[in-house]
Amino acid sequence: MNKAKRPAVIAGNWKMNKTPAEAAALIEEMKPLVAGADCKVVLCVPAIDIPAAVEAAKGSNIEIGAENVHFKASGAYTGEIAANMLTEAGVKYVVIGHSERRQYFAETDQTVNLRTLAALNAGLNAIVCVGETLEQRELGYTETLLKFQTKMALTNVTEEQLKHVIIAYEPVWAIGTGVTATADQADEGNGYVRAAIAEMYGKEIAETVTVQYGGSMNAGNAEELLSKVNVDGGLIGGASLKAGDFSVIVKAAGK
Ligand code: 13P
Repeated sequence: MNKAKRPAVIAGNWKMNKTPAEAAALIEEMKPLVAGADCKVVLCVPAIDIPAAVEAAKGSNIEIGAENVHFKASGAYTGEIAANMLTEAGVKYVVIGHSERRQYFAETDQTVNLRTLAALNAGLNAIVCVGETLEQRELGYTETLLKFQTKMALTNVTEEQLKHVIIAYEPVWAIGTGVTATADQADEGNGYVRAAIAEMYGKEIAETVTVQYGGSMNAGNAEELLSKVNVDGGLIGGASLKAGDFSVIVKAAGK
């Protein structure tokens, strides 16, 4: 294993939080705190916040992401956003297949795959989320499920496109619960994801893919989680809404 082969990426997922004015203010607060970071810094924000966030982040090392993208280029899909709308607005990354979208908005492994392909074809970087529920873990299906979700998401993704894919392992039971996976559980889950990528693209290529951990990562536990060989970054919910906490996590990724 060689972590140096892949970029460390710390991404915030703001979920349904912050108005455009609040987004701009939070980014202004974060900018000096994350300047010169040794990892990539991304903030994935609600769609309505994107213009304000892109403007506020200008000239800094913060890149802006979206929280979803539709798989069609245009058409009668009320409430959805196409990939070229995001790129034109200055978006560089997009979260796809978050467990909240799978749970509340009928996202499936098929639609995750289609959204991933649409994002990549438009030149976006895709942050694809996978993760097991507590019930699935207790039944012993974690490895099977993580590999299945990863392979489904990456179906028809070319080797070249894979360079723009990040997989975020987010155990559903650890999201927003304050219950973090142990560093070993995170490393193991991320390892299953990497093994699935290796089965599809070969071991050497799998070593180059950034695999994040997400789920109650915070200023207190980030360093230990990020010290693990398979944990190349984090997808941060609650702690990305606080400039101080988020910057501690960003710094931990550079250690
Ligand atoms: P929390 O960090 O709030 O647990 O959320 C994690 C997450 O879902 C990031 O996408």
